[in-house]
Amino acid sequence: MHINPKITPIYQTSVFKFADLNELEQYFAEPGSRYLYSRNGNPNSDELAEAVNQLEGGAGAVATGSGMAAIFAAMAVYCQAGDHVLCAADIYGGSAALLNAELSRMGIAVTYVPFEQLYDLQPFVQPTTRLLLCETISNPLLRVADLRRAAEECHRHGLKLVVDNTFATPLITKPLALGADIVLHSVTKYIAGHSDVTAGAAVAGDADTAARLRQIGVFYGLTLSPMESWLAVRGLKTMRLRVREHSHNALAIAQFLAQHSGVREVYYPGLPTHAQHALAAEQGQGQFGGMLSFLLADDEAVVNRVMQRSQRFPFAPSLAGVDSSLSYPLGTSHRALSPEQQQALGITVGLVRLSVGIEPVEELLADLEQALAS
Ligand SMILES: Cc1ncc(COP(=O)(O)O)c(C=O)c1O
Repeated sequence: MHINPKITPIYQTSVFKFADLNELEQYFAEPGSRYLYSRNGNPNSDELAEAVNQLEGGAGAVATGSGMAAIFAAMAVYCQAGDHVLCAADIYGGSAALLNAELSRMGIAVTYVPFEQLYDLQPFVQPTTRLLLCETISNPLLRVADLRRAAEECHRHGLKLVVDNTFATPLITKPLALGADIVLHSVTKYIAGHSDVTAGAAVAGDADTAARLRQIGVFYGLTLSPMESWLAVRGLKTMRLRVREHSHNALAIAQFLAQHSGVREVYYPGLPTHAQHALAAEQGQGQFGGMLSFLLADDEAVVNRVMQRSQRFPFAPSLAGVDSSLSYPLGTSHRALSPEQQQALGITVGLVRLSVGIEPVEELLADLEQALAS
């Protein structure tokens, strides 16, 4: 019987068999010729890693158990005890928590760089500084980093540039082509796209770094299970269609919110009023993604009323699913920051973040209209 499936089956196995010692030796002599143990490699996680690698134009990748695991893997590739890293102040709160609470314990110090100073790192660089971590489009205020300039500035100081490309996706920006050294994703978000998978990926621009990423994945046990990999690969196949619809809907909603009397400010790179609109248009090839934030009155009662009234934007503190959702950075993603950090970043009581889905846009607009009615 010859079975020839069109789609890679789920290799739901933790281990692979060898006939004898010759086969074992073949495994070690020819990496990639067969599999040994799923933490070290599995056809499904390899398929996901290679698909993300292709999209990002990398030299190799590792699929990880979460986006956090991908960030950790990237830090572990470049840093050891005694080192120092720079991190954009506008960053996902979980990334800041990893740096502040965990990597600091391992002797890796962090300094935060205000967004406006990402292209002039001289005042922040120390002899032990190894890298800068930043996001292409920042969480939650949608600030857009000029990655070409950031990469040039990093390399001028002998630093690596590590880019979290979760909000942008490789369809909007390919950081490696702009000079980044590692690009990573919370695959949980647009790559998988259906709010049913937790996964990550880190992609390197050169083969040696890619090999180190995979090795760190294996030794720290960061690698992804077969089932989650399979689901992410399945989701990835429609990413091009989804990102187009997410972007289209988000622009319409941003325009609607911008003229609404109950909304004080809208943060969306697709609006001409956005501070980095021209950069976002050029770097994002005309698409701006499905994430936006907006500012209501700094009053919890006002925020609660919108959450309670909305039917199409359930308060669910994640993002990038095909179904829309709403999140609250102060209470969820950026909860771990100090009140001073939150204030400095503009993460206040009235800040609401929308993950705009791919539903018919008129239904989303009607829902927001009634939710925001005073
Ligand atoms: C920009 C960004 N990076 C990384 C992460 C962490 O990813 P995960 O939750 O898959 O570990 C998140 C999660 O929200 C995120 O928004």
